[in-house]
Formats: sequence, structure tokens, C-alpha cells
Amino acid sequence: MTRVAIFVSGGGSNMVKLVESMTGDHPARPCVVLSNQTGAGGLVRAREMGVPTVAVDHRPFGKDRAAFEAALTEALAPYRPDLICLAGFMRVLTAGFVDGWRGRMLNIHPSLLPKYTGLHTHARALEAGDREAGCTVHEVTPVLDDGPILGQGRVPVEEGDTPDTLAARVLTMEHRLYPACLRRFVEGERDPLYLP
Ligand code: GAR
Repeated sequence: MTRVAIFVSGGGSNMVKLVESMTGDHPARPCVVLSNQTGAGGLVRAREMGVPTVAVDHRPFGKDRAAFEAALTEALAPYRPDLICLAGFMRVLTAGFVDGWRGRMLNIHPSLLPKYTGLHTHARALEAGDREAGCTVHEVTPVLDDGPILGQGRVPVEEGDTPDTLAARVLTMEHRLYPACLRRFVEGERDPLYLP
């Protein structure tokens, strides 16, 4: 059974969908939900689902990312994860951490990569006049929002969309895409999944 650690910074709606998916004959189970935000709503939701949680506040570490990541590693150790799923984890992880998890860390990003790495993806898609938007699940490499693509979900951009309305439509697709990609990844599938 593959043990999955899920990293969140906010509400954790993708985390909830991942946890809900890992039941029955699924080859993985959640072992811990970790956040850099002690007050993250995702921690509460994880506990409600019976998943252990741990918070590692990044702020005391200031600019010392290596020390923050050492604390992450120490906090994770008791849960013995095989795989990390970043699910709205809003801290950039350095090569020092990422390299240790190469091939064992996934991320979901709210754009059709390689378009719009980084932040404000929905506003940028609207400003560009894109007719479609979406989300991408990919393996994490030291380059931000890069790495082999495991799946993409497309949604239409609609007349009158704002960044918020578009984000909500993309998030609904994220909730379908990430659990599907996680399962396929754990089962050894590496060909990208394209939804819908
Ligand atoms: C999701 O839209 C996710 O794609 C995005 O944050 C949101 C988290 O929502 N992630 C990033 O922007 C990472 N760069 P959630 O907490 O409800 O899952």
C-alpha cells in the first residue's frame, strides 16, 4: 500500500478529494496532511476525516528555506510517506528537498501548463483572451511548475468570466483530475490523462 502525504496551505478542497478517493481497492492511503499554515482549513478538514495532521509554520525560518525543509522532513518521518501530493501548497520547495523526492512528488497547478506558471493564472488567462483554461497534474522537479505532465483538464472560458468564476470552474475540474492522476500514477501509468 502506497502511503501518501498531502501538503496544503489553505482550504484543502483538493486534499479532501484525494483522501476520499483512497478507499476500497485503491492502491494508496493518506498517511498525513501537512501544512505550513497552522490555521489552514485543510488541517481541520483532514482531522474530521480521520487523517493525522502536522503543521510546520514557515515564518520562524525567515529566508532559511533549507532549515524549513529540514523541519518538514523531520515532521514527515514518523508517517513514513512513499509519495507527496502538493495540493494548494503555496511555498516553493528548493532543489534540496525536491531532489530527495524525485519521481515521488506530484503537484496540481491551476493552468494548462506550460502556460501561466506561478501565481494569478486565471487573471492572466482572461487578460490573454484565452477561450479555454484548465489545470495540470505533474511530477515535481526543481523548476517551478515544470516536470512531466501526468494529466490536464480543460474547461471553457465563458462570456463575463472573472478570475473568481473561472477559478471555480477550474477547481471543479481539479477535483476530478487529481484523484484520477494519483491513482494512475500509483498504478505505474505515466501517459498523460486528458479530461474531459
Ligand atoms: C487550487 O486551485 C490549486 O490548483 C492551487 O491552489 C488551489 C488550492 O485549493 N495551487 C496553486 O496555485 C499552486 N501553485 P484547495 O486548497 O481548495 O485545494
